Amino acid sequence: MKIINNIKDLKEEIKNLKGTIGLVPTMGALHDGHKSLIDKAAKENDNVVVSIFVNPIQFGANEDLDKYPRTPENDYKLCENAGVKIVFAPTPDVMYSQDKNNLTLICPPYSVVDKLCGKSRPGHFDGVCSVVAKLFNLSKATRAYFGQKDYQQLFIIQKMVKDLNFDIEIVPCPIVRENDNLALSSRNRYLKDSERKIALNISKSLFEAKKLFESGTATKRAIIDNSLKLMEELDVEYIEFVDVNTFEFQDEIDENTLMLIAARTPETNTRLIDNIKL
Ligand code: PAJ
Repeated sequence: MKIINNIKDLKEEIKNLKGTIGLVPTMGALHDGHKSLIDKAAKENDNVVVSIFVNPIQFGANEDLDKYPRTPENDYKLCENAGVKIVFAPTPDVMYSQDKNNLTLICPPYSVVDKLCGKSRPGHFDGVCSVVAKLFNLSKATRAYFGQKDYQQLFIIQKMVKDLNFDIEIVPCPIVRENDNLALSSRNRYLKDSERKIALNISKSLFEAKKLFESGTATKRAIIDNSLKLMEELDVEYIEFVDVNTFEFQDEIDENTLMLIAARTPETNTRLIDNIKL
């Protein structure tokens, strides 16, 4: 496995690869959720490239860019064991050698950005799309793997690929959870033990919502009320219902409904997101 941190060497190594390339873009602090993407990429491609880059331009001014967990040695080990060919781990200066305030950005439209995570994180998806587009160009990947944990991100990237005719296949990957159903996230390591228990009510709300929906009698209001009660100790940012195919808000839930939650924990103010297809 090659660990590369500059663009010239990356281009050289990519040129030498034979066959298909599966790209897994990450911000590191890798866990079993990331590993599931890497394993799928390894099954479906001749070569796997993993990028590890805490992308400054997708963080807001008051967000956790500085304290975002960085565990390079563990990450490299995980990649090596998973059969990754290239880890691309650039510094911000390598990725954005030009003036950071003078960048060409890819800005998805308000229709997909002005809701859910995009609403509370202005500019976030511009930063995500811009870095992902650079990674697509640099890796020359055949396929790129994204988790359904960040469903809005996945949807926006699929739209970018379609709108801008990128020659790449986006492969969605299911959410990986702990045994107690907490969705794996690099940010889970911020949680105190006491908060972790409270955080479980996010996935509990989603799983109970699915049961309520399947019982055939529950309204959207009843599901929201049940979730708010379960998440009393959390600071709930949103509980929303969108059509999984269009990402439009839904007045009534149906078999195409994706339910999404964002909430903050009481002590460390950790922002967690999760979702479920009803
Ligand atoms: P990061 O949060 O590191 O996530 C990298 C990829 O792993 C994303 O596609 C995310 O959806 C997926 N992932 C994270 N937790 C998961 C879980 N529990 N189950 C399944 N997949 C999971 O998302 C980003 O980084 C960045 O925004 C990035 C796309 C790399 C651009 O900077």
